Amino acid sequence: MAPRLKKLLITAGPTREALDPVRFLSNLSTGEMGYALARRAVSQGYQVSLVSGSTALKPPQGVRFYPVVSASEMQKTCSKLFPKHDGLIMTAAVCDFMPAKNERHKIPSRNGLTLKLRRTPDILAQLAKKKGCRTVIGFCLETKDLIRRAKAKLVEKELDGIVANFYNPQRHHPFGKRSVSVCLIGAGGHILRLAKQPKERLAKTLLSWMECLHEDRARVV
Ligand code: C5P
Repeated sequence: MAPRLKKLLITAGPTREALDPVRFLSNLSTGEMGYALARRAVSQGYQVSLVSGSTALKPPQGVRFYPVVSASEMQKTCSKLFPKHDGLIMTAAVCDFMPAKNERHKIPSRNGLTLKLRRTPDILAQLAKKKGCRTVIGFCLETKDLIRRAKAKLVEKELDGIVANFYNPQRHHPFGKRSVSVCLIGAGGHILRLAKQPKERLAKTLLSWMECLHEDRARVV
């Protein structure tokens, strides 16, 4: 049997990509999932480092807390921390795009504005490529073709598992304190559809699933 995971790196919340000193691009993430996971992991005896984008939440007691703002700050912090951990769960809603230019002064609002955007670094893909014996789980939220796209990301980013998060404005709105509907998809091909449940309950399930994925890898690696 593989040794249990001990040290977990968890990311949470949105990133903010600055356009000028007072404006940014971001998304609806509140950090609730990552914080619930960090809280649960601490209560189960894991050592937890929580790298978090800007949220209104209090860091859970017992975590090592690393606040960041942008995707590139999250990347720097995670790259430093990752080698010291044996598992990564990337719940953070990293902005996929950032303004090509961060203006030093506030952009005047007189005229219209066309923004040029570029991709942010793919933190998860970069870390997963160097994972060695670590176990790495990502999250995926799509407004269509969720399972197909989540499976593609699992392969492209070389993950051990991915949590596909259903989004539908009427029935499945996963932001904030709401319950979530997810599928767990493992690199071995298994797909587990879970009943809609509070994030606290999902956190417990995810930690058990991660231990299973870790054990599966230990048999292969
Ligand atoms: O945005 P996307 O659907 O590709 O996100 C899938 C996973 O990749 C998430 O776990 C997210 O935290 C991670 N990600 C990342 N860096 C990015 C974009 C996404 O680590 N620039």
